Amino acid sequence: MTKALQASAIAPANIAFIKYWGRKDAQLRLPANDSISMNLGGIETKTSVKFSPDLQQDTLTINGEPASSKERSRVSRFLDTIRNLSEFKYFASVDSHNNFPKGTGIASSASGFAALTVAATAALGLEFSERELSQLARLGSGSACRSIPDGFVEWKTANLHQDSYAYSLFPADHWDIVDVIAIVDAKEKKYSSSQGHEAAVKSPFFAARQEYLVSQTARLKDALERKDFSTFGECLEQETINFQSVIMTSQPAIYYWNPTTMAIILFVQQLREQGLAVYFSIDAGPNVHLIVEQKNVETLKRELGKIEGIAQLMVAPPAPGARVVSN
Ligand code: DP6
Repeated sequence: MTKALQASAIAPANIAFIKYWGRKDAQLRLPANDSISMNLGGIETKTSVKFSPDLQQDTLTINGEPASSKERSRVSRFLDTIRNLSEFKYFASVDSHNNFPKGTGIASSASGFAALTVAATAALGLEFSERELSQLARLGSGSACRSIPDGFVEWKTANLHQDSYAYSLFPADHWDIVDVIAIVDAKEKKYSSSQGHEAAVKSPFFAARQEYLVSQTARLKDALERKDFSTFGECLEQETINFQSVIMTSQPAIYYWNPTTMAIILFVQQLREQGLAVYFSIDAGPNVHLIVEQKNVETLKRELGKIEGIAQLMVAPPAPGARVVSN
């Protein structure tokens, strides 16, 4: 009997403190700039992959439902890359489960492609290093390469495929900060991240952003290392607004926010004036990531109860990266 070519993996989503936005090479997903992130504990994708000579094509389910043909062909193209590295050329059935809503600005493509990379390579018996897994995951979705290593992560830009990967700066237990995510809209967004990356480079502010990021990334990294929460938070908000300015001035212009997004930004300023140390970050979507020290999570949650339009709160501590799990 031939060995079953199957495996399962879990990978966390991640929140970028310094954002990946704009690419040098769209095909290879080589980013315009370095980025820094934190893996989100409990916000995960679990993916099971089974390669079989009996299949006539790749199949994909997401949360138990057949995926769209667009999603299936993106996954299928990615599996081709992995099949090219293996002696087995079989099609695969892929079952993926997220424990968070799809297309909300919480990066389902990051956890999704990180889990797929680890599960598919394990199923085929490919023994890759963390660096190789991260390079590979990047080809599926850029931010996925940051969901492979542990805890607080940096992804370097480069001109060649083999030089652009993510690695852990600090393990998950380095700092007990928490991401409290205010879900204000769980609908699919109008512009995907991929469209956003294309549009970004046409913003008149894009070049200025690249220049700004050199010192800003160094400042944020230093504050992260020293666990200096107020400097870290300041850097985080400055970076978010710089990134959002590029989004809103790109061609086409993209507006991901809704009125609740803005209400939370103003509320965060008010909370700080009242003495609660909390800072926001926003990705390509309307939801707001509120970063606080662990000791302030309950107070923040109570305060957020005063804001109308928040559908759900998710609380995520720093977490380890992607890993194989039993089926
Ligand atoms: C705003 O990784 O989703 O979340 O490479 O096209 O899959 P693709 O893009 P993706 O972009 C993520 C953008 C972001 C910022 C970030 O996570 O760094």
